[in-house]
Amino acid sequence: MRSADPRSVDPRSVDPRDSAFIRACRREPVPHIPVWFMRQAGRSLPEYRKIREGIPMLEACRRPELVTEITLQPVRRYQVDAAILFSDIVVPLAAVGVDLEIVPGVGPVVARPIRSAADLDRLRPLDPAAVGYVSAAVAALRAELGGTPLIGFAGAPFTLASYLVEGGPSRHHERTKALMYGDPGIWHQLLARLAGIAGGFLQVQVDAGASAVQLFDSWVGALSAADYATFVAPHSAAALAAVADRGVPRIHFGVGTGELLGPMAEAGAEVVGVDWRVPLDQAAARAGPRRALQGNLDPAVVFAPWDAVARQVDQVLAAGRAAAGHIFNLGHGVLPDTDPDVLARIVERVHTGSGSTGRPSAASASAAGST
Ligand code: CP3
Repeated sequence: MRSADPRSVDPRSVDPRDSAFIRACRREPVPHIPVWFMRQAGRSLPEYRKIREGIPMLEACRRPELVTEITLQPVRRYQVDAAILFSDIVVPLAAVGVDLEIVPGVGPVVARPIRSAADLDRLRPLDPAAVGYVSAAVAALRAELGGTPLIGFAGAPFTLASYLVEGGPSRHHERTKALMYGDPGIWHQLLARLAGIAGGFLQVQVDAGASAVQLFDSWVGALSAADYATFVAPHSAAALAAVADRGVPRIHFGVGTGELLGPMAEAGAEVVGVDWRVPLDQAAARAGPRRALQGNLDPAVVFAPWDAVARQVDQVLAAGRAAAGHIFNLGHGVLPDTDPDVLARIVERVHTGSGSTGRPSAASASAAGST
């Protein structure tokens, strides 16, 4: 039963749309700077390694109970302001029939790379029923998470193309670029198909109850701004547009994208993710006043002594004040050897140390007034 006293309301009944995370995405006042970590689910958590023992990655992604539990683990441990679905950017590719596996310590490996017009036919549109296990997991998570938002995600067309064309992880993306420059016709068809699959995967997650989405273009920093505009931006924009009418904030992230922050901000998302190479005040100038920013602590900083970590966290918070909205995060994913206790301390510092950001919250002001 609901009580009139806001302090006794079951947190499960709170609407995620009122959360600090969603408010920051919308550039609204927040009670504290919200924080979550890319790749927080899995990686460094011992409870994750235990529950995953003996289960291949893609198989784990297809078991809703396991996905639900792994997604909740970092929320319990770190008190982060958002959950991110445990899945992978290649899950929808496997669902449309691409023969691939995720090799531990390596990443996605594709049996038959895509390099010709004939290969394109292997990339069929995504049938939502083919990822019914994702819908089931998202629905279960919505019930468990209460007021904590769940972030759904997809890989952006360029990053997915890199895995498909190279056949696996690549440092220089040479075959990908050979196709892009050498056969723009096939390239654009490939990216259009991938935008359809990525957009479809985002729709499935939002329709099942995800409160926000992130488009990961992890490797697009390999391109110049001019090539990004010609060969990638329209397709990333199409993937983001697939959920434009759903009313959920969209985050657009890449690594090494300092030169691309302006064009990435133009692709349509409400929030631009920034890696650690560009201070957030400079990133804010590049992304413009109509975009919130997410980032950007160097994930390697957590290996330094706590005093140094705290200083770096404070610097990110200070630079973030220049942004129209700030979601604290790492500049890329949690590194595998990260000490979970350091991440927990970072969350605590962001929550307490960010009280003086000059953005008093309407929510906390009204709560104070009612007591
Ligand atoms: O953020 C989260 O915690 C949610 C889960 C998530 C995973 N992958 C789980 C995963 C997310 C958001 C991803 C996205 C992803 N996958 C990206 C974009 C984000 C980024 O880091 O740039 C990319 C490029 C991939 C492709 C991929 N899948 C890589 C590079 C790897 C790592 C390979 C390795 O072992 O080092 C994977 C596998 C993967 N995805 C793991 C997890 C937890 C590790 C697999 C395992 O635990 O066995």
